[in-house]
Amino acid sequence: MINPIDATTTDAWADLTTLREALVPDLRGWFEADPHRAHDLTFDLADLRIDLSKNLINDDVMAALVRLAEAVNLPERRDAMFAGERINVTENRSVLHTALRLPADAELVVDGQDVVADVHAVLDKMYAFSDRVRSGEWKGVTGKPISTIVNIGIGGSDLGPVMVYEALLPYKQAGLECRFISNIDPSDCAEKVADLDPETTLFIVASKTFTTLETLTNARMARAWLLERLAEAGAIASPAEGGEAIAKHFVAVSTALDKVADFGIDPANAFGFWDWVGGRYSVDSAVGLPVLLAIGQDNFRGFLGGFHAVDEHFRTQAPETNVPLLMGLLNVWYVNFWGAESHAVLPYAQYLHRFAAYLQQLTMESNGKSVRWDGTPVTSGTGEIFWGEPGTNGQHAFYQLIHQGTRLIPADFIAVANPAHPTRDGDTDVHGLFLANFFAQTAALAFGKTADEVRAEGTAEAIVPARVFTGNKPTTSIMAPALTPAVVGQLIALYEHITFTQGIVWGIDSFDQWGVELGKKLALEIAPAVFGDAEALAKQDPSTQSLVSWYLENRD
Ligand code: F6P
Repeated sequence: MINPIDATTTDAWADLTTLREALVPDLRGWFEADPHRAHDLTFDLADLRIDLSKNLINDDVMAALVRLAEAVNLPERRDAMFAGERINVTENRSVLHTALRLPADAELVVDGQDVVADVHAVLDKMYAFSDRVRSGEWKGVTGKPISTIVNIGIGGSDLGPVMVYEALLPYKQAGLECRFISNIDPSDCAEKVADLDPETTLFIVASKTFTTLETLTNARMARAWLLERLAEAGAIASPAEGGEAIAKHFVAVSTALDKVADFGIDPANAFGFWDWVGGRYSVDSAVGLPVLLAIGQDNFRGFLGGFHAVDEHFRTQAPETNVPLLMGLLNVWYVNFWGAESHAVLPYAQYLHRFAAYLQQLTMESNGKSVRWDGTPVTSGTGEIFWGEPGTNGQHAFYQLIHQGTRLIPADFIAVANPAHPTRDGDTDVHGLFLANFFAQTAALAFGKTADEVRAEGTAEAIVPARVFTGNKPTTSIMAPALTPAVVGQLIALYEHITFTQGIVWGIDSFDQWGVELGKKLALEIAPAVFGDAEALAKQDPSTQSLVSWYLENRD
């Protein structure tokens, strides 16, 4: 194991501390003094245009951040990830989501195995299956083609597929719909299947481990629903004789194919992946099957190509022009030198309405850690809270706090030039009006409004302070020509590598998630108490006993 380098002991960290102390934010002044600022801090990354110029940075800060990356051996750690070294130390695993999007003619041998050949064998199986479902050749037990796909999974086996499915709805095949069941709250499953026809429904049970309580419970409920409804309709003799129906209506995605078979799903209908794919990094593996079924193999290839383009940039570009690396370093700058506790992600694209939710798992499950990969405590603050909602909805909800609150909240604004639905309202291009808000918000956040400007509008003196905007609120603008499959892949890979960069600076293992284990274990221990076992209840702490007792008294 290579020990993490303590970033806080490096000269670059000391330089950044000094620079921060000296830096008086003045985005107005900086833009006035340097007519090239926007140009010099704008980058093209595959289809993405990324403007970093409205951040609280100058040349010295950028240079010191790059020195910090070099001081913690970030380029070397990045190369180790791409090469399949076991950089997920606490789980002793390689981290190879980047291999999921390598082209078929690439080769990457890890532990004597060509992982690219393995990846493409599964992709070919997925493509063949998807063609059969989409063409109607794959039929349910009564001979009808599939019209609804229900993905059952949680965390990385849900958030990625949902987010991408929603983002790429305009690419969906007409007559096919996907739904997603994730929560163990039985209302989720009940609502999602309520109006479905079992004869035309295909369930995908997606679970890397195939042990996750929520997913297996939902899968059993879905299986019972399917078999009972089919039996009621006379399509099968009885739920007990539903083997063929399960084979036609249930497929699985997992790394644990033996457990898939135990559940009753034919291994021939299972799509595998590998322990070197983290759940939150898995939407480009077989976990993306619902997306593939919805958009088809050509679009899915474009999606994977988008990831690969950003991977290649991250792998090969020098730090000074390496956009994911620079964006990760900027996040470090705000977290560790400005005390930022959260980061907003604000897509001006309704189809990206689940993007922030997706990023919450990617970033916070990855970097919400307080020990380093060698087990020692971290030496600085780590993962910030990611949150967001699509613009313009957020403008009418929480932007007030970003503009005039007391906290510094760096924000990423995301927009596309061409909407899926170009529309006019009389003479007005509605998407243009939408984007005017995108442009206006980042300008308002950067440049604010002075008291004199407020007065010049004739505002009564008593109200002037309330109407002042200090500005100097940092934003990054990300634009793309359109929300294509490739662009969605590029956006995901961009944030994956930003997350990686931050993790390396902090010396943490961004690829484990031990922090979710305790709650899972306690839930299983408390469950008997919830079901009325007095002895189990007595073992709980007083607050939990009181809450469970109240529940037992008040449930019907
Ligand atoms: O929340 C913990 C976690 O392990 C995530 O990392 C993962 O994405 C999710 O549970 C689901 O796990 P699985 O795909 O194994 O069901």
